[in-house]
Amino acid sequence: MEPGFRILQPDTQPPLRALTAACLPVAALLSGRTAMEDRIAIVTGAARGIGRAIVEKFAAEGFRLVLNDLSEDELQACLQDLNARGIAATGLAGSVREADLGERLLALALGEYGRADVFVNNAGFATYAPAEDYPDDEFDLVVDTLVSAPFRLLKPFGRYLRDTAGASAQARRIINIASVAGLRSAPGQVSYGVGKAGIISLTQTLSREWGRFGVTVNAVCPGLIRTRLTEAKAGVDTIEVEGRTIPLRGMNFDDYLRVVSLGRAGEPEDIAGAVWLLARPEAGYIHGQSLVVDGGGRA
Ligand SMILES: NC(=O)c1ccc[n+]([C@@H]2O[C@H](COP(=O)([O-])OP(=O)(O)OC[C@H]3O[C@@H](n4cnc5c(N)ncnc54)[C@H](O)[C@@H]3O)[C@@H](O)[C@H]2O)c1
Repeated sequence: MEPGFRILQPDTQPPLRALTAACLPVAALLSGRTAMEDRIAIVTGAARGIGRAIVEKFAAEGFRLVLNDLSEDELQACLQDLNARGIAATGLAGSVREADLGERLLALALGEYGRADVFVNNAGFATYAPAEDYPDDEFDLVVDTLVSAPFRLLKPFGRYLRDTAGASAQARRIINIASVAGLRSAPGQVSYGVGKAGIISLTQTLSREWGRFGVTVNAVCPGLIRTRLTEAKAGVDTIEVEGRTIPLRGMNFDDYLRVVSLGRAGEPEDIAGAVWLLARPEAGYIHGQSLVVDGGGRA
């Protein structure tokens, strides 16, 4: 285990959650939700930003949720908020880099809800330095978080999909949150560009290998979206990742808006909408694709 980095152990501590499957019909009635769907989704980096918007969209469509985030406090607050609204959600705090997190998230989904249908790899962050001075350990940390960790997380899910192929009537989906930085250059963020290009490649390869398991595998490539990642103040805002303090920098929205024909920056809900389009049962023949969602900035 990495220093300064903690994951709740299922045998010693319960998962962060409240509502169980047995409470669901009552919870749905109390919340006034009309569940169009009955799918089980696992989402990483779910406590804020794009991940949180995806969670809200899935919840509104009747999904039951298994969530992960690095921040235990923010994940707990997110789960309490969802549960208070009658939404079935449970979760595990910890870094996506933890070796057995994929097994544990899947086990939680199967134990709690009996099934897992959708996996969204969303967790991520960037660090900044000129390529010639980019620290090797930081490069490894970011690339591992953006591409190797999602691969490790997906392997148990892939074995589960293989072993249950044809047994589920539910639409099965893997959706990886990549970036336009993975399709083009990422000056000042060399590891981020490499990591996002890597997850696009992973998406393509898994679509070829796992399509026969009855799952579609796609990526969403956001442009500039208003979240902590992009609105951070350089020299002020940081995130704690596995015992390290990572400085955030933010992006220049004015520069970006000059090339966005829709004339506005993206909101997390714009990405959640794209994820939902790919998750819908009607999207079952969209497979191995990378959907750019950037307001037309790269058109
Ligand atoms: N905001 C943008 O403009 C933009 C553009 C392209 C792609 N993205 C991608 O969207 C995803 C979400 O970013 P966001 O903008 O919502 O950022 P954010 O900082 O608002 O939220 C990221 C969430 O992921 C969690 N997280 C970070 N590292 C983690 C780890 N190792 N393990 C578990 N959880 C972790 C954080 O705690 C946080 O809750 C990222 O993969 C990011 O690269 C964002």
